[in-house]
Amino acid sequence: MDFDTVILGAGAAGMMCATHCGGRVLVIDHARAPGEKIRISGGGRCNFTNLHTEPANFLSGNPHFCKSALARYTQWDFIDLVDRHGIAWHEKTLGQLFCDGSSRQIVSLLLSEMEAAGATLWLSSSLRDLARTEGGFRMGVERDGTRQDLTCRNLVLATGGKSIPRMGATGLAYDIARQFGLAVTETRPALVPFTFPEGRFRPLAGVATPVRLSNRRTSFDEAMLFTHRGLSGPAVLQLSSYWREGEEISVDLAPDGQLLDHLRRGRQDNGRRALKTELAQHLPTRLVDEICKDRDLAGNLADQSDARLQALCDHLRDWRLTPSGTEGYRTAEVTLGGIDTAGLSSRSMEAKTVPGLYAIGEAVDVTGWLGGYNFQWAWASGHAAGTAI
Ligand code: FDA
Repeated sequence: MDFDTVILGAGAAGMMCATHCGGRVLVIDHARAPGEKIRISGGGRCNFTNLHTEPANFLSGNPHFCKSALARYTQWDFIDLVDRHGIAWHEKTLGQLFCDGSSRQIVSLLLSEMEAAGATLWLSSSLRDLARTEGGFRMGVERDGTRQDLTCRNLVLATGGKSIPRMGATGLAYDIARQFGLAVTETRPALVPFTFPEGRFRPLAGVATPVRLSNRRTSFDEAMLFTHRGLSGPAVLQLSSYWREGEEISVDLAPDGQLLDHLRRGRQDNGRRALKTELAQHLPTRLVDEICKDRDLAGNLADQSDARLQALCDHLRDWRLTPSGTEGYRTAEVTLGGIDTAGLSSRSMEAKTVPGLYAIGEAVDVTGWLGGYNFQWAWASGHAAGTAI
């Protein structure tokens, strides 16, 4: 069978690409259903883009690489597509847009766009072998237990990253890229919870609080959640993309900078109130008990000197911790690193040394922050390749 374009991977990027290619397009996926990560994303409501998407929200060996594709297919373009399909949505926080109903609506949107574009979808299909030919590529695909021999002019790698292997994530795109001489940068789990030695935060499991979480490179102001295994929540997931093994992180538990003023005002207006009672107005009690277990918090506010209040606030605003690791690809939302952007055109996503070979989505060394940025990269890079083909 002969196709103009074969796209490996019916995820966000692959399906988007298929709607823009034109010609005879085949999308191949080994899963039984397309867009499984879309389906489970955003707690079942899919955080499909972010109003504030900019190149600064992405990590890559080349921070400029994502600019062209993001500029030519913006969050507004995807919102327009969602509106045209009559899908109701809302902004949750920080520009994050979610479906009012179900993430399945986004999968249906992509499938109907693919159908309108005349693309063919093969599910439960696995690539067995792949080689270059004079005019493109030749491959063997196993489908329903039968081998199908295919040829195509363009081959698009859209099989995503390594995160959540139990959902069928594989390193296929990296393997094919290497097969054709493209470099692949180091890959790491990202947007992933931190782990700590067994039982470290057990007394705090379930506590959530707004923090500023920092390391030497960056900081994020969002919520942090204590779990049985360690730390999670948006601030932690965000920082994990910038963290390296063995590094210390700093937790500011009073990121609005008002705690000292509150304590001083409390001392002035209500000096007989216990210090711990006042602290409980601003921070979860279990957290204060844990962090200050080596400190004397006895006494009323009136008993506290300025220096003592200052020292306490400094302690609560720079709590140093060293995670023992992360939960790894098992729970990571994305994979950091991937196919080296140096080998790809930022306009078309085509490999510079292999005409007709394209790489898009998470497989490429472009990783977004938490908050809809990764889907926006999938839509934009899929569109860039599709329109170039
Ligand atoms: P994606 O992983 O979507 O698709 C790859 C496809 O290739 C899959 O269908 C897979 O089955 C197929 N495939 C893999 N190996 C194959 C092989 N060997 N042969 C054939 N097919 C193969 N992002 C965001 O912006 N907002 C959000 O709300 C969330 N939420 C979220 C929740 C969870 C739990 C996870 C794990 C991830 C998110 N993300 C997210 C991240 C987002 O899901 C991710 O960045 C995109 O799905 C990437 O799109 P791709 O199309 O590149 O890969």
